[in-house]
Amino acid sequence: MIPDKAPGEDVLHASGDLKKEAHVPTFEKYKELYVKSVESPEEFWADFIKDFFWKKKYNGKFLDYNFDVTKGEIYVKCMEGASTNICYNVLDRNVHDRKLGDRVAFYWEGNEPGDQKTVSYRELLQQVCKFANVLKSQGVKKGDRVSIYMPMVVELVVAMLACARIGAVHSIVFAGFSAESLCERIIDSRCCLLITADGFYRGDKLINLKLIADEALQKCRDKSFSVEKCIMLKHLTKEDEGTTPGSLSPPAKRACPDLQVPWNPEVDMCWHSLMYEASDECEPVWCDSEDPLFILYTSGSTGKPKGVLHTVSGYMLYTAATFKFVFDYHPDDVYWCTADIGWITGHSYITYGPLANGATSVLFEGLPTYPDVSRMWEIVDKYQVSKFYTAPTAIRLLMKYGSEPVQKYKRDSLKILGTVGEPINPEAWHWYYNVVGEKRCPVVDTFWQTETGGHVMTPLPAATPMKPGSATFPFFGVVPAILNESGEELEGPSEGYLVFKQPWPGVMRTVYGNQQRFETTYFKKFPGYYVTGDGCRRDKDGYYWITGRIDDMLNVSGHLLSTAEVESALVEHESVAEAAVVGRPHPVKGESLYCFVTLSDGINYNQKLEAELKKLVREKIGAIATPDYIQNAPSLPKTRSGKIMRRILRKIASNERDLGDVSTLADSSVIDQLFENRCSTAV
Ligand code: PRX
Repeated sequence: MIPDKAPGEDVLHASGDLKKEAHVPTFEKYKELYVKSVESPEEFWADFIKDFFWKKKYNGKFLDYNFDVTKGEIYVKCMEGASTNICYNVLDRNVHDRKLGDRVAFYWEGNEPGDQKTVSYRELLQQVCKFANVLKSQGVKKGDRVSIYMPMVVELVVAMLACARIGAVHSIVFAGFSAESLCERIIDSRCCLLITADGFYRGDKLINLKLIADEALQKCRDKSFSVEKCIMLKHLTKEDEGTTPGSLSPPAKRACPDLQVPWNPEVDMCWHSLMYEASDECEPVWCDSEDPLFILYTSGSTGKPKGVLHTVSGYMLYTAATFKFVFDYHPDDVYWCTADIGWITGHSYITYGPLANGATSVLFEGLPTYPDVSRMWEIVDKYQVSKFYTAPTAIRLLMKYGSEPVQKYKRDSLKILGTVGEPINPEAWHWYYNVVGEKRCPVVDTFWQTETGGHVMTPLPAATPMKPGSATFPFFGVVPAILNESGEELEGPSEGYLVFKQPWPGVMRTVYGNQQRFETTYFKKFPGYYVTGDGCRRDKDGYYWITGRIDDMLNVSGHLLSTAEVESALVEHESVAEAAVVGRPHPVKGESLYCFVTLSDGINYNQKLEAELKKLVREKIGAIATPDYIQNAPSLPKTRSGKIMRRILRKIASNERDLGDVSTLADSSVIDQLFENRCSTAV
């Protein structure tokens, strides 16, 4: 399946220097390890297993699973019978066994230049133990769910690791989500406590996070689910370290002591006061391999987000191994992933993977364009970043400003560049490779999902010759296939559904509270396979090219949204009778939201209504889902059975006149009208 030799033409190779020290220096070595990982997974993973601490060793199979719905319930179990603690492995083991206590875990860089703090592994461990004791003092126990809604501060890592230390299950909600989204996630996972912060700045914009968090808790009460414990970190309103002990991030430069923070003494507790009293010793709670570690919500095609559940041991092994190999990690590296911890990229490649390797990372609170478009490169030079991981949307955004803002900084510390989140167009790839990396740094285009836990299709930087825009080959233990509509495996150059034939340690275990949905979403269409929902092409050299989602999902700036989720927000407006949402290609965001709305009888479309609809979507989901275009559509193109033909709407949104086969359309006269009414701004 993987060619014996990588092709010599049309590819780019890593430099000799990189190969000299690489963990996997050649394609032949990759292939050898790959074969071992698939044929004898136990042997392959043994090296990683022995690096970690196990309170009890596993006694059964390394991986036990059923991927075939026709044979019974779908399950994956990795290292059943073992007991361990992931927090112990990423902190105590590094501090005590590996003597890395003084090593920097994080260089925290705030939104405002000059806001910074260095945190060692020892300090991180101490804070985590304290906060774990705080959680215990609030009655949080193993298996309880804790919701975390915080900006990018070190305390977010502290909160998640403290949960892991006591076996509680964290459910982090990205701080850009709305009160409604937070409420929905809190109720779905039945959380017993919420951890949040007063507020934060995103560039110039002040976000009063506590206000939104309170609104979410009120919405929960209105739906008869009450969370009566909320711990709030003072980020903007803290005076100084003396008066607000227990904080790892310093007071923000752009502090905001007057921020109106709502406070309900019955519910709210101050992070700092609780930390002040807490002991910094806390014995970890030993967990079984398959105990839940966290829930992270991702969009689902029905509109209701799915709580993706990951468990302890498999996720620990997988994030550690992918981090080590894909970024070719070495102890002198300074690594920086620009994602937010509220997404899976931050879970796996800011917190767990890097810390499991004892790595030093940059943790950045701000934006790539604030205070100016050189910010990223300034930070790269400041901390001498050697491994840099970002999203295609950020690359495209910065590319617009040309090479000058990049070249103002040296960037000579950079060795490897990575991307994640969506297919990267070759133009952006080349700019990243040529301008940012000055042709010295391989680009690892890592394909994966919230569900996969870690990278599944990716180059290894020294070993895999690169093809711009291709995620290349599978990571160790991952067996991809391409299927046609009838579920037949295609051989050689082909295009179809990307699926995986067997599990790897980091794959999700279930949808929290809904095993049925887990099976239907990922395993029903093609029994025996995990279905990614992405399309994929394999070229003559065996390289895989992800072509994008083939379900009703949109990828806006690397974030998945379901069309159904946005549609159901739009139809909540009393003036909207029906809505259909499609993606329209966007030069920076990848895709933008183009919404067609059919209004109720007697309602006229106007700018006020348009503004109300945009606001409604923002309030229901969050700013990332704000529609770019809304078009008045008195009728929608439908089949005779009444199904909306989104394929046609996509063409209309992009102003493409060639509609292909329209024979199933019930009333073709709607098409001309829709083209006529196209949003004038969407040329
Ligand atoms: O469509 C694929 C796209 O992002 C989806 C997963 O989104 P999410 O669960 O939010 O996780 C994003 C971060 C891992 C995939 O189904 N995607 C992610 N990475 C790539 C990609 N598409 C193409 N190339 C990638 N490197």
